Amino acid sequence: MSSKMIHRHDKGAIFIHWFNAFCWIFLTLTGLGLISNEHINPVGAWWPNLMRTIFGSGETLLTFHIYVGLTWAAVILVYILIRFRDSLGFLKEVFTLSPARDAAWMIKKNVQLTLGNNALKKMGMTTDIPPQGFYNAGQKVFAQLTVLAGLIMVITGIIMYISTIILNNPTPVAWSRTIHYLMAGIAFAGLLVHIYMAAISRDERPAFKSMFSGLVPEDYAKHHHELWYEEVKNKP
Ligand code: HEM
Repeated sequence: MSSKMIHRHDKGAIFIHWFNAFCWIFLTLTGLGLISNEHINPVGAWWPNLMRTIFGSGETLLTFHIYVGLTWAAVILVYILIRFRDSLGFLKEVFTLSPARDAAWMIKKNVQLTLGNNALKKMGMTTDIPPQGFYNAGQKVFAQLTVLAGLIMVITGIIMYISTIILNNPTPVAWSRTIHYLMAGIAFAGLLVHIYMAAISRDERPAFKSMFSGLVPEDYAKHHHELWYEEVKNKP
């Protein structure tokens, strides 16, 4: 085993990831607390009651939800403006798919993780997994989802917020509420997989550590992100 470490994330990227993660989780928990109709709240009535007890009232809970959401969006915007090239690079990386390779990766990796290599063989597939770039296909799909869902939630959130001040028309507010709720639900499903893969799966432990140190071992880079490794292996 080689012990050489390779640079993967810089301090700015690490900061914005954890800031984003903290705000996203806070907004999900407080957002769930705002749904007082227990028939549409996936966790039932106890969670809104608990949140209202912690925050003192439904109004305070909503105020925290709105201002953390606005602060989150403002910090992300400032980050994008300050690090415009890096942010564009990130978007280019996650929105560039190689359909054949990424689809094969998705199918094979999921079968391998859930049913094992024997199942792959029984299905007539080889056990080699197509090489991946800086992010694998699963990470790219998750990142695309969070970028799009985040953008839509900011827009619908702002519509709901300003509706309390200037808008008298209930239609855009009703649509915004439904879309905001749907996006949060879809992103939450992706987030469960992301947290499992990033923090619990042993296979991805080096990536988890790299979200603190910025570095990954050479073997991990070669095995999990071979195309990226080939690009950076000779860089100082
Ligand atoms: C406890 C919570 C979380 C943990 C442990 C975690 C962990 C990680 C790790 C280890 C990576 C780096 C993967 C790599 O270098 O290959 C990563 C990347 C990323 N994280 Fe998180 N994360 C968490 C929460 C979140 C949240 C809440 C979001 C936003 C909704 C988020 C969005 C992303 C995105 C977009 C990336 C880049 C693409 C990807 O690797 O999927 N993360 N995360």
